Amino acid sequence: MDNTCGQDNITILAIESSCDETAAAVVRNGREVLSNIISSQIDLHTLYGGVVPEIASRKHIERIDQVIGEALKTAGMALHDMDAVAVTYGPGLVGALLVGVSAAKAISFASGLPLVGVHHIEGHISANYIENRELEPPFVCLVVSGGHSHLVKVTDYGEYEILGRTRDDAAGEAFDKVARAIGLGYPGGPKIDQVSKEGNPDAIPFPRARVADNVYDFSFSGLKSAVLNYLNSCEMKGIKVCQADVAASFQKAVVDVLAEHSMQALAECGIKKFAIAGGVASNSALRQRLAGECEKCGVAFYRPSPILCTDNAAMIGAAAYYEYRKGVRHGYDLNAVPNLKLGAK
Ligand code: KG4
Ligand code: ZN
Repeated sequence: MDNTCGQDNITILAIESSCDETAAAVVRNGREVLSNIISSQIDLHTLYGGVVPEIASRKHIERIDQVIGEALKTAGMALHDMDAVAVTYGPGLVGALLVGVSAAKAISFASGLPLVGVHHIEGHISANYIENRELEPPFVCLVVSGGHSHLVKVTDYGEYEILGRTRDDAAGEAFDKVARAIGLGYPGGPKIDQVSKEGNPDAIPFPRARVADNVYDFSFSGLKSAVLNYLNSCEMKGIKVCQADVAASFQKAVVDVLAEHSMQALAECGIKKFAIAGGVASNSALRQRLAGECEKCGVAFYRPSPILCTDNAAMIGAAAYYEYRKGVRHGYDLNAVPNLKLGAK
C-alpha cells in the first residue's frame, strides 16, 4: 500500500484509554495530526506509587467526553466531518479500555460512523508515520513501553513478525520498579533518565541477560533483582548508595541489551530502516545510543517526539487509517481485550 494517499482524505476520530491517559485525536490520512488531546492521570497515581486500575477507570469516565469534544474543537471539525471512529481495544487495563470502547461504540451508533478497533502496540509503532511521511514498511521496530517489550519486523501496514519479546518484566516496568527501590518514586522512567545524567554508567557491573533459545528475547527481572541485591548488600555493609550511579548503571544495562538485540536483528533481516516506539523510547540514553549505532551501520533511524512515544490517540488514528483502508470494520460487539496479541484481528 502506498503512503501518498493524501488525495483520499480520510479523517479519523481516535480514542485511547488503555492505561492512565485519556486521549482523543483527529488524524487525516494516517499522518496529519489535526488535534491530539491528552489528559494525563499521572499526578493522581503518583500518590499511590503506580497506576490504580479502579481510579484509572473512574477518571477516564469523568474526562472522556470533554477530551473527545476538545479534540474535535481543536481540529475545527464536527463528527459529520469524520470518516470513522477508532479506539484502542487492547491490550491494557480492562476497566480503562472499556471506557474508550464504550464511548467509541456510542459515537459510532449515534452518528453512523464506521468503528475501527486498534491494537495499542500497533498504535505505538504507527506513531512513527506521523513525523516521517516517507517511512514505509518494511522496517524493524523496537517497542518498549510500561507493559511491553517487543522487537518486531513490520512487513507491511498492520502486518508484523515478532522477532523477540520479554520473557518477564517489560523495560518500562523494570525502570519503574528500580526507580521505586532507589527512592525516586513513580513514574520511574523519566526520573531515572534525569538522575542518570549525574551518575557514572560504569560504576556497577549489572548483568546483561541473554535468553538461551531466542537471541532476540529480553529478560529484565534478573537485572531488577541484581539492583535490589546490590542495594541490600550496601545496606548490610553500611555503604552509602549513590542513587545517580545505580540509576545510570541500571539504565546502561537496559540500553546495552536493547541496542545489541536491535542491531543484530537489523543485520540479520538485512533491513536499513529502524524505528522505536513506546514510553521508554523517549529515554535520552537509548535514543542517543541507537542514533549512534544506526549511523555507524548506515541505517535510517526513526524516533517519535516524546509526546508521541507516551500513550496518545494520534498514534491510534495513524494505525486506524491503514486498518480502515484495508476494510477493517468492527461491530457493536467490539469488546475490550486486556491481553490482545499483536497481529490478532
Ligand atoms: O507507552 P507508555 O506511555 O504506556 C504503556 O503503554 O505502558 O509507557 C510508559 C512507560 C513507563 O514505564 C515509564 O516509566 C516509561 O514508559 N518511560 C520511560 C521514560 N519515559 C517514560 N522510561 C525510560 N526513560 C524515559 N525517559
Ligand atoms: Zn502504551
